Amino acid sequence: MPSVFLGSRNPILFGCGTSKLTGEKLKEFGCKKVLVVYDKGVKAAGIVDKILGYIHDAGIETVCFDRVLPDPPDYICEEAGALGVAEKVDGVVAIGGGSSLDTGKAAKVLLTNPPPISRYFLKHEDIVPDESNMKPIIVIPTTAGTGSEATPGGVITDTKNNCKQNVPCATNLGIVDPELTLGLPPAVTVTTAIDALCHCVEAYTSKENNRISDVLAKEAIYLIGQNLRKVIQDGSDLKARENVQMAATLAGLSIMGPFCNIPHEIGLVLGMIFHLPHGIACGITLPEALEYLAPAIPERIKTVTQLLGGKVPDDACPEEIGRIAYNTVRSLYDDVGMPKLKDLVKSKEELVAAVPEIMDYSPFEFSARPVTAEDVKAILEKAYNA
Ligand SMILES: [Fe+2]
Repeated sequence: MPSVFLGSRNPILFGCGTSKLTGEKLKEFGCKKVLVVYDKGVKAAGIVDKILGYIHDAGIETVCFDRVLPDPPDYICEEAGALGVAEKVDGVVAIGGGSSLDTGKAAKVLLTNPPPISRYFLKHEDIVPDESNMKPIIVIPTTAGTGSEATPGGVITDTKNNCKQNVPCATNLGIVDPELTLGLPPAVTVTTAIDALCHCVEAYTSKENNRISDVLAKEAIYLIGQNLRKVIQDGSDLKARENVQMAATLAGLSIMGPFCNIPHEIGLVLGMIFHLPHGIACGITLPEALEYLAPAIPERIKTVTQLLGGKVPDDACPEEIGRIAYNTVRSLYDDVGMPKLKDLVKSKEELVAAVPEIMDYSPFEFSARPVTAEDVKAILEKAYNA
């Protein structure tokens, strides 16, 4: 039976130059003073000052929170929320990568709901944030990867239990302006785009896929296959930047129902243990995951491979399809400079020691093929040797 496509409650304004409308859109929401959430890197890139200008031009006051950290810790979210409460803001603008957007979402929850943020972790299904008097949030991604503008929650680090948790929070508007990604350095461009690639490939190969998620995922995979090499060769290629940005948004939408599987389930744990950027932690096992899934869903792995530009003979058996899928993704990784696992983790033994924690954290319930601890070990060993 097909799964339910959950869709998104997040309106999205997409296109070059749309960030100039930030002040106008805040005015439409009735905002007079907003909390602006970002990290120091986005500020240094000059993006924050531009957006602050658009907000001030609309006659709206701002209070800045610039202490966003990667894998946003719960206590930073609480600091952002407390600043917003103390300053009596009536809205939030989050600018940056996934960490800034997720911190902004958590701050929005805490403006009108009592701390700590851990009260609203999705695992506590009995406590949900009261949405009746929430203030509006506009999220403005400056990377093309996380898709946080499309997803109805923020991923927050639970520092007590050293794991990631989801906080439900729809956004009132995502302003997705590809021009904001023009200055992204190649390393960040790659790791964020590979996160997006994982989202759409994992949605398409999930056992909970459906026709709506398939359409979104296939377009996202195709756009990344066609454009990622171009943006690495020429970071000023705005058309290619726009296409990768569109892919990231579509990929974020595509996981609304199928949800992520093998690469993200392994990657969320590796990222916490080895302090790897999210896109690297997840993407590092994507080639192996496709090869692993090929015997179970050969036609789907074949489609992914072809969308990424791989050539698959008509009479290829599932194992051969898996090999070609593996080589196609590895070749993309080589061309765009994706970091290698052996350069990030000291030894294979140290890596494999993470298997029990991965199995503890990940039920792999959306995988189209059952995954055992031995399977994860084999996937990790192969990824380490790549
Ligand atoms: Fe992700």
